[in-house]
Amino acid sequence: MLREDKRRELLDNFMRKHEYDESALLEILHKTQEIYGYLDNESLMYVAQSLNLPPSHVYGVATFYSFFKLKAAGEHVVTGCLGTACYVKGVEEIMQAVEREFNVKRGESTADGKLSLFVTRCIGACAMAPSVVIDGEVMGKATPELVINKLKLLLGGNKTETR
Ligand code: FES
Repeated sequence: MLREDKRRELLDNFMRKHEYDESALLEILHKTQEIYGYLDNESLMYVAQSLNLPPSHVYGVATFYSFFKLKAAGEHVVTGCLGTACYVKGVEEIMQAVEREFNVKRGESTADGKLSLFVTRCIGACAMAPSVVIDGEVMGKATPELVINKLKLLLGGNKTETR
């Protein structure tokens, strides 16, 4: 089940706006990817259930179009919000710091699969910009130091393997 948080609220609102209509599946998958940065099993299952569609159909559509990113996320996931407010407040600096520190590129995972780095659009927490989501928790007023320290803690204080 998709975790109940700000992002799911955004997705729920979007699906409601489309009256859970299956003909809006493509738009809904686009929105899901925009919110989460990628499509994974949980989000695809959630969309399938919400629209009352067989999961195989939703997976089929998601895998058919190359603009959908189907990602097996790493053990820990950090997603930077690249929406305007967060961008202006310096989220790019945080993204670059994470890329450097953990030798990972956005949209990818570290070689040991411990950490994935994704980007998303506005997650509705602009007042706390720059916002970063770490394992589903929104960190507002984030800084490179705060994010890196938190990730080091989650990863057991060790750097992940370099490629
Ligand atoms: S732009 Fe990042 S939360 Fe709105």
